[in-house]
Parts: sequence; structure tokens; C-alpha cells
Amino acid sequence: MAGVQYRPQSGFMQWMESRLPLVGFVYSAVGKGYPTPRNLTYLWNFGFLAGVCLVVQIATGIVLAMHYVPDATMAFQSVEHIMRNVNYGWLLRYVHANGASMFFIVVYIHIFRGLYYGSYKAPREVLWMLGVVILLLMMATAFMGYVLPWGQMSFWGATVITGLFSAIPVVGEQIQTLLLGGFSVGDPALNRFFSLHYLLPFVILGVVILHVWALHIPGSNNPLGIDVKGPQDQIPFHPYYTVKDGLGIVVFFMFFALFVFFAPNSLGHPDNYIPADPLVTPPHIVPEWYFLPFYAILRSITFDIAIPFTGITLMSAKLLGVLAMFASILILFALPWLDRSPVRSCKFRPVYRIFFWVLMVDCVLLTYVGGMPAEGIWPTLALIGTIYYFFHFLVLLPFILPRIEKPEPLPNSIFEAVMEGKSGPSTPQAAPAE
Ligand code: HEM
Repeated sequence: MAGVQYRPQSGFMQWMESRLPLVGFVYSAVGKGYPTPRNLTYLWNFGFLAGVCLVVQIATGIVLAMHYVPDATMAFQSVEHIMRNVNYGWLLRYVHANGASMFFIVVYIHIFRGLYYGSYKAPREVLWMLGVVILLLMMATAFMGYVLPWGQMSFWGATVITGLFSAIPVVGEQIQTLLLGGFSVGDPALNRFFSLHYLLPFVILGVVILHVWALHIPGSNNPLGIDVKGPQDQIPFHPYYTVKDGLGIVVFFMFFALFVFFAPNSLGHPDNYIPADPLVTPPHIVPEWYFLPFYAILRSITFDIAIPFTGITLMSAKLLGVLAMFASILILFALPWLDRSPVRSCKFRPVYRIFFWVLMVDCVLLTYVGGMPAEGIWPTLALIGTIYYFFHFLVLLPFILPRIEKPEPLPNSIFEAVMEGKSGPSTPQAAPAE
């Protein structure tokens, strides 16, 4: 269905539209001119909510940067100054710090929604891959942001993570020195992290624009995962999904406020209220919760690969861990081609549906293990979780599922399924878009 075209009513708007068709653009992007599948559930709110999080982070971050001092001798004090002396500084900081966690919660739900309903499959591969680029950029931004308060976890987290680069053969040490602007974490590192932490959210914004553009070419997927067959399958984005996104944002802000006002430090580590001290290593160095599964994968490999009886090490455990950690994200770029099933939605994939939930449990396990000390049973569990993670993407999806899974029959159309009450929120009385 082609969207309804914007027709300016007043003379001024007609004059404006023929020169800069901005209102027409918005109308066709998120208005009556954007037809959307009629069966989208609340899980389709999370892309919009991710955009809201990005705006909140940029707005609060800009004001925080007016008071923060990126100098190793003053950074910690300047954060305390924001908390105590700046008007509503505590609110700005708590919104920004908890906002990072909210952003990751929203984006992780957004990703798993995509995994469940096969939104990464043709024709949405580029949309998905742009999403993975955003995820990588978000991780880099969050990592550098956490260094800025210059507490113990800031300092030692930065030391551990930048130290990983030294495992890369030949050029590793040079890369590490370049990243830090020296041989250890100090003032030059803090300065460049601050600069990049300010820059990257705007790069993310640019990629989000491409992401949404790539979405508008094929249009949204839907819980049935089948293509739109005609106008009866669609409703206009406005008012149906603007209202739905409106309710979503209210509920989301209530959840967000619970953390900001009632448990503002619950997602952080108490050691970060101790000023950075290069001479005192904390007993357990742990990253923020949203990095824990990747941290577990990083630490899961505790053995070197060596040529037997020669004593020659081909790959150190550290290098293997670093490679596994990066591979665990980069593998997502190949997902549209690793999953060979022609059916998108898990609703009609009885076997994949089970393994989707097994993958979820595996990710929760890795998150838990990532927060535990690397001793006792934990490294073994991390290794099992890591092996399963790669097994899912590299063996199960491309080789096993195509052999053992027989997809269930797909409905003829979204309209038909909705009328029969078989798809998402049934809205049979809603009129089809003109
Ligand atoms: C700043 C972060 C992000 C923003 C602001 C964002 C924004 C959006 C928006 C507004 C939509 C349309 C509404 C919806 O379907 O929920 C969308 C769809 C989508 N996004 Fe994102 N996104 C982000 C991150 C990601 C990431 C990290 C991935 C995957 C790795 C991803 C993959 C997708 C896919 C596959 C769709 C299409 C879903 C469908 O049609 O079923 N996005 N995104």
C-alpha cells in the first residue's frame, strides 16, 4: 500500500512544502503516510524507546559536561561537585548513569525481539547490520563513559580492557599505547576517553538515521513474519502506533524513575565511589552489568593452544579470550546468512522456538558468571556457556535446524490471521488504511 500523501492546507504550508518539504517528510516517516502492519505488538515499541534513550543521554550528557573536569586530579571531585553543588546535578547524573543501563535493557529487548521474529532476514539484512554497528558504538561509548568519574572501577576497568589489546601479536602493545596515550591509564587516557565519549553519541545518532531509513524501505516486520499482501494488512502509523508508543514511553519512564529516585546506585558498583588509586587493586574487577556476558566469554578460556611436546605456544589463553569476545558480537553480522530457514517468525518454527529460549538462558547464565570471580566452578560454566553460544550460531542454525525442523503452515495474510484472532493484539474492528 502506498502511504497517504501529505497535502498542505494553508497557503503558507503550500509555499513551504514546495521549498522544504519537511512536514511531508515527517508525515511519510511516522505519520498517516507510513503504512505499518496492523498486528504489531508492544515489542515493536523498543526501537522508539531506544531513540528516546539516546536523546536523554545526549541531553543530560551535554549539561554534565559543562561541570565535569576531564583531569585525573580533578575528575572525581568534579563529579562530587555535580552531585552536591550544581542545581539538580544529582538528578542529571543519576538520569545519565541509570540511563545507560536503561538504554542497554531497551536495546537488548529490541535485539531479542528481532531474533525471535526473524527481523534480520531478507530484505532487512542491512537494517540488522546497521543495528550491530550501533551496538558496537554503544559499547565503546558506555565503556569510555564509565572511566570518566575516575573511581576505582573506572581506573581498573580501563586498565583491564585496554590491557586486552596487548594480547594481539606484533602490534598489540603499540595499539594499547595509542589508546592510552601512554604506557598506563592516566591523564592522557582520561582526556581522549572524554573527547570520544562526547563524540560517539552523535555518530550513533547518524547511524540510527541510516537504520530507520533502511527500515522504511521494506517496512516493519511483524509477529507473523509474513509479508504484507495488501492495504487490508496495514494501518497508518499515526494515530495507531503513535498512541501505542505514547503509552510505552509513559510506562518506560515510570520504570526508569524507580531506579533514579529509589535505587540510583543499585546498578553501579560501590567501589566507584572510591577515588582511583593505581596502587590498590580491587579484589574483584567487574564491568557494568550489560558487559557481563562478554566479560564471561573473555575469561572463559583458561588454556593456551600449544604444539604438543615442543613447548611452542600458538595462541595464548588471553588472545583466545579476546578473539572469542569480539567474535561473539561480530558473528551477529553474519546472522542473516547463518539462519537458512525461509520462515521468519518463531511462531511457525517449533524447534527454533525452543532453542531461542535456550539461547536466552545461556545469555543469562553468562551474565551471572561474568559477575563471579574467575575461580572454582565459574570458569568451567563460562566455557560451557561460551561453547553453547557459538554452537547456536555456527552449528545449530546453519546445519542442524534446516535438517530437523519442519515449519508450521503460514497464514495467507496478516488480515486473515488477525480476523481469526491468531496474531498479536487482535484489532478486527480497526478500519484498514485508505
Ligand atoms: C540506538 C539504538 C537503536 C535505535 C534508536 C533503533 C531504532 C529502531 C526503530 C525506531 C525501529 C522501528 C521500530 C521497531 O521495530 O522497534 C527499529 C527496528 C529494527 N531494529 Fe533498531 N534501533 C537501535 C538498535 C538496534 C540494534 C542494536 C539492532 C540489532 C543488532 C537493531 C535491529 C533492528 C531491526 C532488525 C529492526 C526491524 C524490526 C522489525 O521490523 O521487526 N536495532 N530500530
